[in-house]
Amino acid sequence: MTQTTLIRRVPGHRPRLLDLFCCQGGAASGYAAAGFDVTGVDINPQPRYPFRFVQGDAVEYVREHGAEFDFIHASPPCQRYSRAQKIQRRDHPDLIAPTRAALAATGRPWVIENVEEAAAELRDPVVLCAAAFGMRTYRHRLFETGGGFTFASPLHPAHRAPLTKMGRPRAAGHFAHYVGNFSGVQEARIDLRVPWMNRDGIRECIPPAYTQWIATAFRASRMEVAA
Ligand SMILES: C[S@@+](CC[C@H](N)C(=O)[O-])C[C@H]1O[C@@H](n2cnc3c(N)ncnc32)[C@H](O)[C@@H]1O
Repeated sequence: MTQTTLIRRVPGHRPRLLDLFCCQGGAASGYAAAGFDVTGVDINPQPRYPFRFVQGDAVEYVREHGAEFDFIHASPPCQRYSRAQKIQRRDHPDLIAPTRAALAATGRPWVIENVEEAAAELRDPVVLCAAAFGMRTYRHRLFETGGGFTFASPLHPAHRAPLTKMGRPRAAGHFAHYVGNFSGVQEARIDLRVPWMNRDGIRECIPPAYTQWIATAFRASRMEVAA
């Protein structure tokens, strides 16, 4: 159960969000829309990331700086768990366990996000589906929470629309699957609400609507009091 905590409301102060494994900033954008001041960390340069950016190792960064933030989001790369990569598992290190350990040590509330294929690595994850947020795709993502924070998903609608086959333009009434070398980058930008991203970022991202939902739940669970 989510603990109610008092946090100080200082005029002009926005709660600080640490966005680990940030890529082009899908997750970040939802937290920013909910009023967070966002800092992202990625091992690779991310010139499209729209917020404060630090290039470096996410686990090292959270060990050193995690306690300076009000809430921490982590999206470790999913290649180790995805079906297509099962044969080359050893080429992709398990980052979920070390990330969890580092997050727990901060004493801050946090969320770890990953793909459905990583379900066995995550503890009691909540599933979010893009169709629940009015998008024309499903893109299930799992979210494990910790540090005294939990949240509930919105109502998960039945999957009635068929998925257009990969690499083909979306057929009328169908939903799209934005993975691999999908076609229709401009359509995906509109659908997922990520107009600044290229195909690489879209393939990897969480739609900002997911993290806006989580951020709103987090802010509602804290009683913000005047300083
Ligand atoms: C699945 S993407 C994150 C997507 C992002 N949450 C979003 O919504 O747009 C994973 C990212 O982790 C980065 N990455 C991989 N290993 C890393 C590490 N050790 N430290 C920091 N970033 C890392 C990759 O460069 C990639 O951009």
